[in-house]
Amino acid sequence: MDQLRETYLARISAAADAAALEEVRLAALGKKGEISLMMRELGKMSPEERQTTGKALNQLRDELDSALRARKTTMEDAALDERLKAEWLDVTLPARHRARGTIHPVSQVTEECTAIFADMGFRVAEGPQIETDWYNFDALNIAPEHPARQEHDTFFMHRAPGDNRPPHVLRTHTSPVQIRAMQEQGAPIRVIAPGRVYRMDMDQTHAPMFHQIEGMAIDRDISMANLKWVLEEFFTAFFGTKVKTRFRASHFPFTEPSAEVDIQCSWVNGQLRVGEGDGWLEVLGSGMMHPKVLRAGGIDPDQWQGFAFGMGIDRMAMLKYGIPDLRAFFESDLRWLRHYGFGALEAPSVHAG
Ligand code: PHE
Repeated sequence: MDQLRETYLARISAAADAAALEEVRLAALGKKGEISLMMRELGKMSPEERQTTGKALNQLRDELDSALRARKTTMEDAALDERLKAEWLDVTLPARHRARGTIHPVSQVTEECTAIFADMGFRVAEGPQIETDWYNFDALNIAPEHPARQEHDTFFMHRAPGDNRPPHVLRTHTSPVQIRAMQEQGAPIRVIAPGRVYRMDMDQTHAPMFHQIEGMAIDRDISMANLKWVLEEFFTAFFGTKVKTRFRASHFPFTEPSAEVDIQCSWVNGQLRVGEGDGWLEVLGSGMMHPKVLRAGGIDPDQWQGFAFGMGIDRMAMLKYGIPDLRAFFESDLRWLRHYGFGALEAPSVHAG
């Protein structure tokens, strides 16, 4: 019996895995196991013999049983240790790099402009990019024979024969939003309208689609002086430095008087500097809203007057961030976007004037 004990204890501790251990258990304590078979022999023994042998066998069985269980627990613990080691995770490691998109300069500058004008009480208005020719032209006092209406400038939507809807165009400026905003809100009103506009034009400084931001303020006694203050306040906040403006008499059908506005700049070693020197750069068109335009928007020109301006967003982005070629804006070149793009969490940089 001592020999049996030694043999089985040795086999138990040598068992490499759960299957091997189970094999040892069956060989000793299974129905046809060696110990079980010996227990069956007890019946044939004399009562005294049975007592001592039976006791010893029971002891042996219990001893092997607990050795089996202990070995099993050890194996399970080892397996768990292995797993814990394998599945261990260092949460302090720096995260793996993931490619992230950037905010396009046009979006960034639109945000910046919106933030500055919002501070001056302007809210954002919107209109459709496919616009009727009434909103894009007629309501803005642009007569049918006006050159801007001719096909070389304007994208006209195709109309099938028999289509009676009014002619539609891809809006050529954000000015139609003036009319829509007046119709929706009436006076007094202060809105800006950033968005896409379209013209048949393509070279280093022109793209067939580009972005404008329209501004409009109507009240009882709005004047050119308010326009000048708002624009200088805007440019100073936008460029982060005091910027002088120059108003040049101009002509737009929807404003009277009209002015083109230049901002002060200079060229230093081929680099453009805004807000210093004695150079001037044209950046927007503006003026006092024409009475016919107010009327088209449902506002009485004898009670109200307003100013309006329209400025190129892409151009503002080029000036502020030193981007040389407008065409690159819309080529979706990833290298360009990574270079000129902005981080998603970068706050728009605007400075109080
Ligand atoms: N809509 C004009 C343009 O696209 C700009 C403008 C807007 C001028 C408002 C005057 C007033 O050139």
